[in-house]
Amino acid sequence: MKDAQPRTIYLKDYRQPDYWIDRTRLDVALYETHAIVEATLDVRLNDSQHDANKHLPALVLDGVDLELEELCLNGSVVEADGYELVPQGLSVPAPGAAFELKTRCRIEPQNNTSLEGLYKSNGMFCTQCEAEGFRKITYYLDRPDVMSVFDCRISADKSLYPVLLSNGNEQTRGDEPEGRHWVEWHDPFPKPAYLFALVAGDLQHVSDRFVTQSGREVTLQLFTEPRNIHKCDHAIDSLKRAMRWDEEVYGREYDLDIFMIVAVDHFNMGAMENKGLNIFNSSCVLASADTATDSSFQRIEAIVAHEYFHNWSGNRVTCRDWFQLSLKEGFTVFRDAEFSADMNSRSVKRIEDVSLLRTAQFAEDAGPMSHPVRPESYMEISNFYTLTIYEKGAEVVRMIHRLLGRDRFRKGSDLYFERHDGEAATVENFVAAMEEAGDIDLNQFRRWYQQAGTPELNVTDEFDSSQGLYTLQVTQSCRATPGQSEKLPLHIPLAVGLINAEGDDLLPEGTRMLELVEQTQSFSFEGLSAKPVPSLLRGFSAPIKLHYDYSDQQLAFLMANDSDGFNRWDACQQLCVRVLQRMVSAYLAEQPMQVDAVLTEAFGELLGSPVEDPAALDAMLALPSEAYLAEISSEVEVEANHAAREALANHLATVFAVRFSELYQGCQAKGPYQASAKDIATRSLKNAALGYIARSADQGIELAREQYDQADNMTDRFRALATLVHSERNGSVELADSYLDKFYNHFKNDPQVIELWLSVQASCQREGALERVQKLMEHEAFDADNPNKLRSLIGVFCSQNTTGFHNPAGYAFLADQVIALDARNPQIASRLVTPLTRYRKYPALRQQQMRSQLERIFAQQLSPDLYEVVSKSLK
Ligand code: TRP
Ligand code: ZN
Repeated sequence: MKDAQPRTIYLKDYRQPDYWIDRTRLDVALYETHAIVEATLDVRLNDSQHDANKHLPALVLDGVDLELEELCLNGSVVEADGYELVPQGLSVPAPGAAFELKTRCRIEPQNNTSLEGLYKSNGMFCTQCEAEGFRKITYYLDRPDVMSVFDCRISADKSLYPVLLSNGNEQTRGDEPEGRHWVEWHDPFPKPAYLFALVAGDLQHVSDRFVTQSGREVTLQLFTEPRNIHKCDHAIDSLKRAMRWDEEVYGREYDLDIFMIVAVDHFNMGAMENKGLNIFNSSCVLASADTATDSSFQRIEAIVAHEYFHNWSGNRVTCRDWFQLSLKEGFTVFRDAEFSADMNSRSVKRIEDVSLLRTAQFAEDAGPMSHPVRPESYMEISNFYTLTIYEKGAEVVRMIHRLLGRDRFRKGSDLYFERHDGEAATVENFVAAMEEAGDIDLNQFRRWYQQAGTPELNVTDEFDSSQGLYTLQVTQSCRATPGQSEKLPLHIPLAVGLINAEGDDLLPEGTRMLELVEQTQSFSFEGLSAKPVPSLLRGFSAPIKLHYDYSDQQLAFLMANDSDGFNRWDACQQLCVRVLQRMVSAYLAEQPMQVDAVLTEAFGELLGSPVEDPAALDAMLALPSEAYLAEISSEVEVEANHAAREALANHLATVFAVRFSELYQGCQAKGPYQASAKDIATRSLKNAALGYIARSADQGIELAREQYDQADNMTDRFRALATLVHSERNGSVELADSYLDKFYNHFKNDPQVIELWLSVQASCQREGALERVQKLMEHEAFDADNPNKLRSLIGVFCSQNTTGFHNPAGYAFLADQVIALDARNPQIASRLVTPLTRYRKYPALRQQQMRSQLERIFAQQLSPDLYEVVSKSLK
């Protein structure tokens, strides 16, 4: 908490630090009431910053919530008048150009609810230092361009904390008086403080090994509380696959002799790539068929790979400053997405990623926190771990990949890793390596990193039948974003196909990549005998919104015929969107909502043919979400969107009732549960069918009940439960409640399953949603200090339960929660508030109701995190 308004940090102000820290020796003694941290730093003047004619600058270290007990310079104690405690830090006059500084600080991990720095989770000690958490452990130059070799000695009670871990390799260990013990760790790779980690607890582990391509043996260990030890196999298998893949695809080998992962229940994000000692949110690493859904299996595989890939894209080559965050995050998300695509279904992975981008990232980019992939300023860096940095950043790397092609991209990444190994690099370094190795001019392309907002393409076409000439005219534009009114044209790869009346590709290469560089540009295609149907932005070749005036019939045609799987799905989405928008208009005009015949026919054709690709069919049966409908409308009509979507789903359920029953039967499992891509797709399709069946017939409720009772895995059990909970049929409420109880009683000791249980109730749009959520907050299963619980109950309610949340009571509820939480966990508070910050998308009355809750929040004493988000939203 601070009284003054937080300071804005600018990229343009970057300069190197005055001092480096070559070595960092930590001695951390853990107790129940406090911890003592002794830090011995080898400090050296940064000559390149220093004017030799001037006095040595003071060494100014970052430090937050630390109690300094002693400070020594070159071995001698410095009295209190020999240094200065400054806000958020410590200033020490330098005794020379190189010296040893030693501090001893007292901290209280057991009272640290921010989950940043050193804190306790279920009785174990753990750390989270990215981005600026290390300064809550000791005084330091807590910035990523200061890289140091770390040694860490940990001591603690031996029976409570038999396992003591830090980065690198274990050196020595021993016992101490009073039942304590200690372990010393050494990490040979210089690293910034944000990659430091420490864990102490009563943990068990599973062990495995991996032999690298050059024949070195690496020990793999996954640590958990004893009760979870049976849930480690999937993560270990995923890790081994990721290690192999990074060798094969990027030529990157692991570098230490041991790689450890620790699962903790209290964690602000998904996971953290600390060198040699990844720390994971339990829900992103632990899984068993009995307790984890298919999507959680896939998420675990992706996140384990993501954190592992950071060992090169993030750790060996790190970021110079936090404005470069996407250098590691965008690149690493691209790497993990390609890994997942190779391990599972490529087209499904693409559809999932694009759906997330189009709903959540586009909304972020159109909202008050809109920022470029490389931001120019921030108040609180934790607020910039965003979909823009991660997902749009990954799309930008994907476009480079597309422009260079696989082989030249690999040359570029080799050059980047080789040139910057051991360094703190910039986005510019990455682009320059790609440009050089790829022998391509990326000058204009760099604007993708600088310009915020979602570019829009307007496409028109013309056919000159006398010449057989087909022309696409493309115009790009981008709306103003906060602080950026002028937008320059971007370099956009636009993958297109042309399809004839028979549904065949007309271009010899199938798909042609057009490179748009002008604001308006024409592209011609010769030798056509008739006007084709264009298939635009195949594979979603750029993170943009594309407008082309398709007829409904053309969309149905593309949905059935496009050779590009992604575009078949997208045509289906766009056709549904159109129909839904007409239904919304009818609803608002108090007219009956009607489903156009062309859509029903298109689904008839889709459902009528034999299922070749269950994953693709499943994706098409998932109608556009309310979040997506909200994102694409200029003024969100909450009730109308919900009613239209429900009506469309019910219509399809009724018309194709027989077919859905056949699908349900046809997709029954042939053997025991497996989390393979094929089985996952079949299961998902079966459960989609179940959802439709339950909409049209009471028999569907019976089916869901049977499926629940007979399920041998969490996916089937949970989807059956969700079907019951979301059902609007007579008598289903009591049934749902009894199954929710049954589910709870069976799984109440498993936090990950309880997250599912909370989220399915939070998203239930039946009457009385807010009251149900409030009641759940009183339930023993809820824990307001656990981010996962907050996200699955409050987060899900406010973002997915549109009709439940969007009313004055819902807005006040969220504001209350955010205010209460900000004092304890500012990072989570400033994320949870997001739905309120989107008020400009809603009609006047709601706008004003949401805004007044933001004003109420703003009147409080706020953390820098929440201050930044709320002040920018109110601007
Ligand atoms: N670097 C982490 C990742 O892999 C992100 C992260 C984990 C994080 N914990 C955090 C960021 C806490 C900010 C605060 O994406
Ligand atoms: Zn990451």
